[in-house]
Amino acid sequence: MRFSIAGQKLGGPSGITTLMADLGQALTTNPGMRMLGGGNPAHIPAMMEIWRQQMGVLLADGGAYDRMLANYDGPQGSPAFLAALAGFLQRQCGWDVTPENLAVTPGGQSAFFYLFNLLAGPHADGTHRKILLPLIPEYIGYENQGIGPDWFVACPPLMERTGEHRFKYRVDFPAVAAALQRENIAAICVSRPTNPTGNVLTDEEISQLSDLAVAHGIPLLIDNAYGLPFPGAIFVPAQPHWDAGTILTLSLSKLGLPGTRTGIVVGPPEIIRAISAMTSVVGLANTNLGQALSRPLLETDALARLSQETIRPFYEERSRQAQVWFDAAVAGRFPYAIHESEGAFFLWLWFPELPISSQELYEKLKARQVLVVPGESFFFGLPPHSPDWPHRRQCLRVTFCQDPQIVRQGLEIIAEGVAGL
Ligand SMILES: Cc1ncc(COP(=O)(O)O)c(C=O)c1O
Repeated sequence: MRFSIAGQKLGGPSGITTLMADLGQALTTNPGMRMLGGGNPAHIPAMMEIWRQQMGVLLADGGAYDRMLANYDGPQGSPAFLAALAGFLQRQCGWDVTPENLAVTPGGQSAFFYLFNLLAGPHADGTHRKILLPLIPEYIGYENQGIGPDWFVACPPLMERTGEHRFKYRVDFPAVAAALQRENIAAICVSRPTNPTGNVLTDEEISQLSDLAVAHGIPLLIDNAYGLPFPGAIFVPAQPHWDAGTILTLSLSKLGLPGTRTGIVVGPPEIIRAISAMTSVVGLANTNLGQALSRPLLETDALARLSQETIRPFYEERSRQAQVWFDAAVAGRFPYAIHESEGAFFLWLWFPELPISSQELYEKLKARQVLVVPGESFFFGLPPHSPDWPHRRQCLRVTFCQDPQIVRQGLEIIAEGVAGL
């Protein structure tokens, strides 16, 4: 069979397919594997209980349950859900959002597939426009989403030491400004908090990116899969950002509902109409279970409270604990630094003197029953002839969402593995 260029890109090997295959395989065929790889949220007991209760409420209202299962939603999403979410965002964030600014998608992942292909790529005027990632490493799931070659331009960050074994990436604004001058850019895109690093771009960085986007007449895409007002996996003070020039995505996944595949785009009506049209073309309608389960919690603002009082403290404590375990496990045996863990579900470990690539380290750790994600996969969009940057091969992403004992063992095995190289 001969696949098209787009077919090869979407249907061939990629970082995200390896990640998801590893995740699925470990969960089904290799229960002994310590899963520090994938992006599954933790099974927070209080949240699991909330969703079980909401399912009970839905089942008890037989009419609502039947309508949910037996009807297609409109492609923009259920009108009742969109109204509830608009009210929630107005109250919680003070944004001037109406249902015209909201579209549901099958997960945040699909939202980005739609947005990237809507905005970037070949245009009718003969130009080829790209997505600018102002700070890599960036989310592995974006890499293969453009239907065609050459979809991304990325800027390496500035790196700041924040402690003996801690560091933080910062946006290199002169590099971003130069990329905006040099390339034909369709949109600027960031995840905040960032997967894989746990970085939270500061309010000042976001405001500068927003100004640059406005000055160039392009949107700023903010992937808010972990942020505010939900799920709230963010451990430093930071303001959620949305305005007329911003396209923000939200997801129900990290609230504990990845199985419902529910993402949300918050953007100008022109974008929302296009996203709804794409949903019709690609999949007719969205899944509606996540919308039905979460709507009552949006209407009462309970989702904001749960994010602040249950989800944030849970992940913050997991992060703190994982850092303590890793610092203790290394015990000064080799140079390392952990990215400041400001949000999301991961520690981003940097080994400045790693004698092998992080891809090779990943293979060695997998053989010892620890699954991580090699850092290489998150550095994409660099120009082909850009100078070598060894940092790209020196990092690992590990999740702290799994059972604490598994995380502890996994971190100890990683430390042993690196010490033994
Ligand atoms: C930064 C980021 N964006 C988007 C997604 C997609 O999530 P979903 O499609 O489950 O909403 C993820 C999942 O891990 C993520 O980490």
